[in-house]
Amino acid sequence: MSKRQILVTSALPYANGPLHLGHLLETIQTDIWVRFQKLRGHDCTYLCADDAHGTAIMLTAEKLGITPEEQIKRIQADHQSDFDGFLIDFDNYYSTHSPECEHYAQEIYKRLDANGHIEKREITQLFDPEKELFLADRYIKGTCPKCKTDDQYGDNCEACGATYTPADLINPRSVISGATPVEKASTHYFFKLAEFTDFLKSWTRSERLQPQIANKLGEWLEAGLNSWDISRDAPYFGFEIPGAPGKYFYVWLDAPIGYMASCANWCEKNGRSFDEFWAEDSKTELYHFIGKDIINFHGLFWPAMLDSAGFRKPSAIYVHGFLTVNGKKMSKSRGTFINAGTYLKHFQPEYLRYYFAAKLSGGVDDIDLSLDDFIQRVNADLVGKLVNIASRSAKFIHKGNAGVLSDSVHNADLWERVTGKADDIAHCYEQREYSRAVREIMALADAVNEYFDAQEPWKTAKDPATEAQAVAVSSQCINLFKVLMTYLKPVVPALAGQVEGFLKTELDWPERFEPLLVHRIEKFKPMITRVEADAVDKMLADSRDEAAAAKAPVAKKPVKSSTEPAGQIEFDDFAKIDLRIVEIVNAEYVEGADKLLKLTVSLGDETRQVFSGIRDAYEPAQLIGKLTVLVANLKPRKMRFGLSEGMVLAAGPGGGDIYLLEPHEGAKAGMQVK
Ligand code: 2FM
Ligand code: ZN
Repeated sequence: MSKRQILVTSALPYANGPLHLGHLLETIQTDIWVRFQKLRGHDCTYLCADDAHGTAIMLTAEKLGITPEEQIKRIQADHQSDFDGFLIDFDNYYSTHSPECEHYAQEIYKRLDANGHIEKREITQLFDPEKELFLADRYIKGTCPKCKTDDQYGDNCEACGATYTPADLINPRSVISGATPVEKASTHYFFKLAEFTDFLKSWTRSERLQPQIANKLGEWLEAGLNSWDISRDAPYFGFEIPGAPGKYFYVWLDAPIGYMASCANWCEKNGRSFDEFWAEDSKTELYHFIGKDIINFHGLFWPAMLDSAGFRKPSAIYVHGFLTVNGKKMSKSRGTFINAGTYLKHFQPEYLRYYFAAKLSGGVDDIDLSLDDFIQRVNADLVGKLVNIASRSAKFIHKGNAGVLSDSVHNADLWERVTGKADDIAHCYEQREYSRAVREIMALADAVNEYFDAQEPWKTAKDPATEAQAVAVSSQCINLFKVLMTYLKPVVPALAGQVEGFLKTELDWPERFEPLLVHRIEKFKPMITRVEADAVDKMLADSRDEAAAAKAPVAKKPVKSSTEPAGQIEFDDFAKIDLRIVEIVNAEYVEGADKLLKLTVSLGDETRQVFSGIRDAYEPAQLIGKLTVLVANLKPRKMRFGLSEGMVLAAGPGGGDIYLLEPHEGAKAGMQVK
């Protein structure tokens, strides 16, 4: 088998929020593929980075009162810790906000420009006169011109489905400041994509893309490609365009260049040559794993840029579908919008790695995480079938042969059957048909368990005359277990590590598997526990509470407009809110909820219990004795930790930057706020 040189990437997550299980579907898919290639002895390098630029990141940092650099540093640390938690083994995890990315973004741009592939044009866009910022469609809301529903985004109406441009909205307003946007012209830089139509028509049809993806891109190519707007006006968090002061590269221009930047940074640290990977005639295979929402960037814009700039193109792009949970889109209110960190508080990473592997194919269909099925599969397959082989066999080897495996193979046919599947299973991994690989492996585990059951070593071990047979059968099962665990090692690397300790040998995947004969093994120690159904409920409750806590205490910005302010309520509605001054008589941490404090508040003649998402901002002891404001007639809400009987008011963007409202001196607990 000749050694291949392979470079692999997953899409770069935005440095604007935590990772959720949708991100993990992709990185787990990629990590399994990379681990498989490495296990087969190939020189495979896995790179990723945070996607650090853009308006959203700039605005989040501003809200938090920190610099964008500080914001992306915090998020990157979070992302890396979550990826570590899921055993994602990057060779390098970098950032698009890096000198290497700036260098290659500028270099590529200069080459595109020199080749005549850049054009400048004036365009008119909506502009926030208060923030002095051009507004992308998602930052404009207003009343639908068709059905007159308020609070609709700038491009389509969620109520009636109409599509339009932001200029068509009635009473448009900037989501950022509330100001009424004005039209303003400015010069933008465009990449002349249409000039690459012929190249892209042949590139997208050369087996580099799954058929559905090639067809979709084919439709767009047939419809005709427009030039791609690659510039944004200041203020923008990104890299300035050379020779164009005040103009910045649009985040999607430098995002894929982040793959190169991460590679350059890794090459520098490891004494490797960048050109080996990116020169036009590079022999290295290059694969991008991405979701189906970003195929235009990877299947059209990116290869066209690389072509113009004289770099190599991807060998293939591997696209996966979206993640649904319990058959539906992930939802914060149902608790199924599960962050990576929340999952890891409740479960081992390998349960999810295994479950995703059991569902993933090489296609682009959506993948459903059905939580009942998740429990059932992990318990039935990993615990009940696979590890069970070792746990039931090992004791007979220790009892009958002092922990040493026997000197011959007891059932050569079964050995052939299990080891003979190696190429099929390898082919499945190579094709990203992990669900087929898992099915094959589990069918073999069934066969091994059936063999064990039929041989009844628990009976033969009792009689000294037949005890050797119990040892031989169990030794065979341990050897088969070793092969099956090698097959599954890319999916469950930590479990495989435990098995290596138990068997005192490495699980490597040779051309031909040989049994371990006359080899001492350790005593079996439990390696994996069953998933309990109530842990799933706890995870969902946590996700719900976290989403509610993250949302609840942040005072919403008033929305204003020069004509008819949107989002107004009637005075009668306002009058319904019973606001009371309360004294915080007790405050404590809530076990298992890292955002909440449990407050006991006194209204004078009555006390209430309230859960509030202010843990990052206050020590409990600081709060006792303080007065604040309570929404006293809010319906009590059942949370996982108990009943919350009202809501205390606080202001601020959230996290540690949140402040409880305090009344003026003289106010007393129980007073109504007028
Ligand atoms: O869609 C996203 O989340 C982007 N941040 C992906 C970027 S992938 C690559 F091009 F950098
Ligand atoms: Zn409408």
